[in-house]
Amino acid sequence: MSTLLKETVTEVHHWTETLFSFKTTRDQGFRFDNGQFTMVGIEVEGRPLLRAYSMVSANHEENLEFFSIKVPNGPLTSRLQNIQVGDTILISRKPTGTLVVDNLLPGKILWLLGTGTGLAPFLSIIKDPAVYEGFDKVVLVHGCRFIAELAYEEEITHLLPDNEFLGDMVREKLIYYPTVTREPFRNQGRITTLMETAKITADLGLPAMSTERDRVMMCGSPAMLADMKAWLEAHDFREGNTGEPGHFVIEKAFVEK
Ligand code: A2P
Repeated sequence: MSTLLKETVTEVHHWTETLFSFKTTRDQGFRFDNGQFTMVGIEVEGRPLLRAYSMVSANHEENLEFFSIKVPNGPLTSRLQNIQVGDTILISRKPTGTLVVDNLLPGKILWLLGTGTGLAPFLSIIKDPAVYEGFDKVVLVHGCRFIAELAYEEEITHLLPDNEFLGDMVREKLIYYPTVTREPFRNQGRITTLMETAKITADLGLPAMSTERDRVMMCGSPAMLADMKAWLEAHDFREGNTGEPGHFVIEKAFVEK
């Protein structure tokens, strides 16, 4: 059996000149934990060209969804950005990744910190009822350069709270905190700075970060992850992994050169 599934594109959405997302059909046998990624791509010159993509869709949803940057000369994304409904997408049957709640110790507040397309795994996680059962509050922080890059804002602030099954939990527990660094916005500054200065906890009326209560998942650029990890470790937070739960877990967001 091939390790690659052939799925069909059912929807494509272009957010900006540099960001798009797409949905595909989902093989019945394709299972994953919310927050995981898999290899996704297309056939180029007779060979699969694949990159790691987090599932935006939750594991209880019928379709698969992915969120991508468009890199002008990127081998995959320069082609993938032109996909149309009906095209074939290759998807690896073997999802993996560390951004799963089981890799975290029990806690009260779950922080989901994403920059750019690092938002993707958290869109899956905020649709997971088990996440709301495990935490009192789930804080989704999305950091971008520009307001237009705050993709999925409508889904997070309107569709999800109105969802028939998840709505009650979302309205009670989910807090969305978008922040922008390169133009004026109601929340401004890098996620790391907002955490370090405690501006974010003050804005949200939450207590200062503590290893007793707070758990963190982060997905973004290597620089953002390194800075956030250094701050957390300086405050006694310990990194978790599969089989060894900790106070925080990390995953690099998709990059293509
Ligand atoms: P900034 O505009 O100050 O560089 P990018 O599009 O480069 O991936 O960036 C997405 C967001 O991540 C931007 O708001 C950017 O802020 C921010 N960012 C970049 N590097 C870091 C870092 N080391 N720590 C925190 N945020 C970062």
